[in-house]
Amino acid sequence: MAATAEVPTLLELRQLRPELLRPLLQEETEVWLRDMLWDFRPSSELVRRFVGMQALNGHALCWREEVVGYAYFVCEEQKGLIGDLYVRAEVRTPEAEARLLEASVRTLLAMPHLRRVESQLMLMSRESQLALPFPDRARAFARDYMVAHLAGGEPLREDPRAAGARFELWSDAFTDQAAHLIAEGYRNHVDADINDQYRTVPGARRFLHNIVQYPGCGSFFQPASFACFDRSSGNMTGVCLTSLIAFDTGHVTQVCVHPGYRGLGLGYEMMRRSLAALRMAGCQHASLTVTSSNTGARSLYERIGFATRRVFNAMVWEL
Ligand SMILES: CC(C)(COP(=O)(O)OP(=O)(O)OC[C@H]1O[C@@H](n2cnc3c(N)ncnc32)[C@H](O)[C@@H]1OP(=O)(O)O)[C@@H](O)C(=O)NCCC(=O)NCCS
Repeated sequence: MAATAEVPTLLELRQLRPELLRPLLQEETEVWLRDMLWDFRPSSELVRRFVGMQALNGHALCWREEVVGYAYFVCEEQKGLIGDLYVRAEVRTPEAEARLLEASVRTLLAMPHLRRVESQLMLMSRESQLALPFPDRARAFARDYMVAHLAGGEPLREDPRAAGARFELWSDAFTDQAAHLIAEGYRNHVDADINDQYRTVPGARRFLHNIVQYPGCGSFFQPASFACFDRSSGNMTGVCLTSLIAFDTGHVTQVCVHPGYRGLGLGYEMMRRSLAALRMAGCQHASLTVTSSNTGARSLYERIGFATRRVFNAMVWEL
């Protein structure tokens, strides 16, 4: 890629025939499975379908007649979300990744109604994110992708401190209480800087709707998702929600305990039950993401067997 004539060109995704994306998506699917234990095929199928309908916004990096990189974004009310960014290993450089990121952020920030852009690009190299585009509006937060082996080993012991709580399998009827719990549980929390849906009850409701109904974070797995309640008041005191990201990998999409009930073993006990249910369902591994500075949550996860597999950045731009 040294010669000037060989600098990749940037095209709009809408100009692309979906077949041209096939080799790139094939490679990306292999990397997701190898590095993250995540089956990317449903997402890659959606990308190809939407590109085929000329309905996906974003850019492709083309080199020698081939698509070697792409990024796409979607808009949700006043927020833009960069959904994915991937450059093929053969041509991956910080410049190539930064060009795609810059193109998405520039397009989004130019939209008059947009106030905010969020992204969590797990496969993008962190070196490429050292100099963020539009740095005066940007913030980056390191996050850990953690994995626990479920097969073999001793099952986790029940925490007697949590014996006073009532645990129930997730039901959609819990959505409203869980939305209140999340908005309260993430008040002044770094994760509410990363995902603004955590800041309000309607936002948390949308977040719950997205993880239960849509496949972005795997397919929701109700048999390993729990809520817990205070026996005397009946109030919801915590939730632990899971999905399947591959036929043998579970993912904890949310764990939150009401601030007044922390340190009583509820987080541990819900996670223990979720991991046991995932294991029963044939999962070999479970994964989750956590903000690196959230040391309390990280120490809980480490205690139950999770270890960091990859560190990536969550990025936010605000007007
Ligand atoms: C992380 C969280 C779910 C833990 O739930 P919990 O019920 O307090 O956890 P447990 O009582 O089972 O375990 C507490 C452990 O977590 C850690 N911890 C984290 N936050 C804590 C808090 N506010 N109070 C007490 N312990 C806390 C401690 O290391 C503690 O270890 P110990 O049991 O050996 O003393 C809870 O703090 C929470 O909801 N935090 C806000 C939302 C959040 O950060 N979610 C995780 C996003 S990835």
